[in-house]
Amino acid sequence: MPRGIALVGSGSATPSQKLTNDQLGLRVETNDSWIQSRTGISERRVSSPAEKLSVLSYRAADSALNMAGWDPNSLDLIVLATSTPDDLFGSAPQVQARLGALNAAAFDLTAACSGFLFAFITAAQYLRNGSMKRVLVIGADQLTRWVDWDDRKSCVLFGDGAGAVALEGTDLENDGLIGYKLKSDGSRGDCLNLNQIENSLPLVPGISHQKGGFLPIQMNGQEVYKFAVREVPSILDELLLVNKISPDSLDWLLLHQANKRILDAVADRFSIPHEKVLSNLANYGNTSAATIPLMLDEAVRDGRVKPSNLIACSGFGAGLSWGAALFRWQGRL
Ligand code: UT7
Repeated sequence: MPRGIALVGSGSATPSQKLTNDQLGLRVETNDSWIQSRTGISERRVSSPAEKLSVLSYRAADSALNMAGWDPNSLDLIVLATSTPDDLFGSAPQVQARLGALNAAAFDLTAACSGFLFAFITAAQYLRNGSMKRVLVIGADQLTRWVDWDDRKSCVLFGDGAGAVALEGTDLENDGLIGYKLKSDGSRGDCLNLNQIENSLPLVPGISHQKGGFLPIQMNGQEVYKFAVREVPSILDELLLVNKISPDSLDWLLLHQANKRILDAVADRFSIPHEKVLSNLANYGNTSAATIPLMLDEAVRDGRVKPSNLIACSGFGAGLSWGAALFRWQGRL
């Protein structure tokens, strides 16, 4: 029996260290005025060496569980969207253990800045088909560990954070997930990468191996920008049309927080007033898989997003990958 999906809780967590644009100007040739005017970012959070992704994720997850009013033992699944796990084998089980969610399966999912959206839609399938009842979806990244702090074209953009959403199976009349669409195009993937370093070492005579390790983030900002302002309006347009929803009836536009100019361009394409565009880029920069749940949690907790509000959401990033979802918020503080 197909079931509905209700979004009933949110949570978030960020590292305490703030790095302002002026401070960044001490490290690399840049300035507050350039960064603010080209991106909308004023400061970002940087994890200390001791701050683990699994702990940041746990804090966001715990807060979402509290808002939902759930016992950790009632969770069936935890999906952690991240490109920067503590452990390449996966960090979701560490979050499961800290939460004490003894009955939950837990796995990581990687789709860069689209990761939260891809994880949300993946997790939703288990609720839709009725095989699970309670799922936690986390988006968390620590890209500050992987940026080249001497590359001013990319290092100004990124920050660390985590956000989580609690999803519950419900009857179809209360279904909050109205529609979604996910896309990938690996043929255009070379404009944003966190690639393995080439490090070939001899193993035994006649056999060599590659020693694991990664290069810092490499980005062609202009190509990513063009991709975002072309594909995000296009996928949102498709989703609104298929679901017969007019942009006027949206309460909020919730986009991956990459650049204020991208948010404005997408809003203008649909004539959505900028007051309906959720943005916390100024304070956190681009936190990759975390941006969407981090922003949602802030807007739920400060009362902007209210129960039954209709939200159009889109994520985009490396892969290339992008996606969109239309949903209603159903949580209560
Ligand atoms: O999740 C997805 C992640 N990635 C993105 O979303 C990236 C999308 N792209 C962007 O947001 C923008 O392309 C950037 C913000 C990265 C760059 O903005 P832009 O308007 O495309 O600038 P640009 O690369 O065309 O550079 C313009 C000028 C250049 O100087 P010249 O050649 O015109 O003299 C750059 O060298 O600005 C210079 N510049 C800087 N100046 C001060 C580039 N970065 C900086 C900087 N500070 N940090």
